[in-house]
Amino acid sequence: MKIHVLNGPNLNLLGSREPDHYGDRTLAEIRAEMEGLAAELGVDLHFMQSNSEGDLIDAIQDAAEEGDGIIINPAAYTHYSIGIRDALAAVDVPALEVHLSNVHAREAFRADSVVAPVCLGGIWGLGPAGYTLALRALVDFLR
Ligand code: DQA
Repeated sequence: MKIHVLNGPNLNLLGSREPDHYGDRTLAEIRAEMEGLAAELGVDLHFMQSNSEGDLIDAIQDAAEEGDGIIINPAAYTHYSIGIRDALAAVDVPALEVHLSNVHAREAFRADSVVAPVCLGGIWGLGPAGYTLALRALVDFLR
């Protein structure tokens, strides 16, 4: 089983970016923790981050060709990228949406997700734990 973990714009800055919202863990640390859990669960993990919408759309299409499931934090694209939404809708693999912060307790525009309707489910507000919980949940679902 192979799970693709896709991260959107500015998540490369985790660790120093708005720690009140996103905490102090870096994306490399989140990746290492997920890789450890993937090894424990006996699944392969492909982890990527991009600041570009097109790269994320390509990554969703690649995930469908090579993988079994997607965990995606589309970051700001969550709130307006119909291209990412359509890519998730087009592919035949389940996706979980993850957000570090509680997007429902911040600015009103963050409460809207254009990708949520085409995802299996989502986790928000739990910080980096949301990623590992999503991995456990997606592997359970696929098994
Ligand atoms: C985020 C929430 C988004 O609103 C924001 O644009 C991000 C990060 C989160 O993980 O909490 O970049 O997806």
